[in-house]
Amino acid sequence: MIKLHDLYFKPFISEQEIDTAVQKMVDSIADDLGDEVPVFVGILNGSFMLVSDFVKKYPKPCEVTFIKLASYEGVKSTEDIQRLIGLTQDLTGRTVVILEDIIDSGKTLEEVHRIFENENVKQLLIATLFYKPEAYDKDFKLHYVGMEIPNKFIVGYGLDYDGLGRDLPDVYQLKTTQHMTNLVLFGPPGAGKGTQANYLKEKYDLIHISTGDVFRFNIKNETALGMLAKSYMDKGELVPDQVTIEMLNKEVEKNAGANGFIFDGFPRTNGQAKALDKLMDSKDSQINAMVALEVDDNVLVKRLLERGKTSGRADDADEKIIRNRIKEYYNKTAILKDYYAAQDKYFGVDGVGSIEDITERLSAVIDKL
Ligand code: IMP
Ligand code: MG
Repeated sequence: MIKLHDLYFKPFISEQEIDTAVQKMVDSIADDLGDEVPVFVGILNGSFMLVSDFVKKYPKPCEVTFIKLASYEGVKSTEDIQRLIGLTQDLTGRTVVILEDIIDSGKTLEEVHRIFENENVKQLLIATLFYKPEAYDKDFKLHYVGMEIPNKFIVGYGLDYDGLGRDLPDVYQLKTTQHMTNLVLFGPPGAGKGTQANYLKEKYDLIHISTGDVFRFNIKNETALGMLAKSYMDKGELVPDQVTIEMLNKEVEKNAGANGFIFDGFPRTNGQAKALDKLMDSKDSQINAMVALEVDDNVLVKRLLERGKTSGRADDADEKIIRNRIKEYYNKTAILKDYYAAQDKYFGVDGVGSIEDITERLSAVIDKL
């Protein structure tokens, strides 16, 4: 991943793949033109790298020149194309091949055709390394296309984001979600997970996704996924991971601009952890850390018995039940601890002390991510 100005980009097309595409363009153009000596016209600034690589590969004599147009501001194509340097030589009767780095909306190409309208060239051929078919809304024929790409903003190999990135030999794609901090929060019963989740969500402006809440919401509102989940629960069966993941996906999509998420109550199995990784990957993001509050069993028992006196929760009243719940927690989470530890993403945090102290310790971990 790379950062240019304020935005993050991920690797998209390698130097090697670009080289293959350029070679393919060279071969078909050389084939088609035979012994004709073409004039290759690069469109500056973006095409400088393509033109250089292209003409080095071109097997026969050719001429090279440039025109300089400007259309992009930031990551958006603008309406008016500025003609900064026009044609500086007479191309009457010549075979001209335009070498473009990328064709997006086609506005630049329209301007190119305007430039050549009265030039009386023998033929005007258009060759572009990258082409975004979903963005193109003109009718001009594209004679040679190196690679079709989705309608996403890219940088590298001549292409820039506000001036940066042109020098990169590989091409990178804008990440659809920008830098997020995504946490999986764990803690045995009585560790104060709920309390800490509330503090962290405020402090880091994160969205707290408690799987239990998400289930209850979907079932209460009778969403399609809620009904599906309920049909399993009614039969006394476990809700399949795919259904749960789809619910989480909806939550993540509802909060597309979020700084990140705190996942609470999910994952519980290796399979779920993998599914969550896949979900985050599909959002161009990742789980950054599993943060687990660590509290000694005896302290937990004391806390829960104390809570049981006022909460009226039957499972908080009996020491044996409490110890069992804690044991079960460790049995279940050991696997996940290993899963995240293997990726250097496991962070145990001492959960004994004042609420502020514990928040402080959690923050120390998050700030380093
Ligand atoms: P068009 O006029 O919309 O076809 O855009 C063509 C010009 O916009 C290219 O020559 C580039 O300078 C710029 N451009 C289009 N798409 C991208 C991109 O994804 N990254 C960087 N520049 C782009
Ligand atoms: Mg360009």
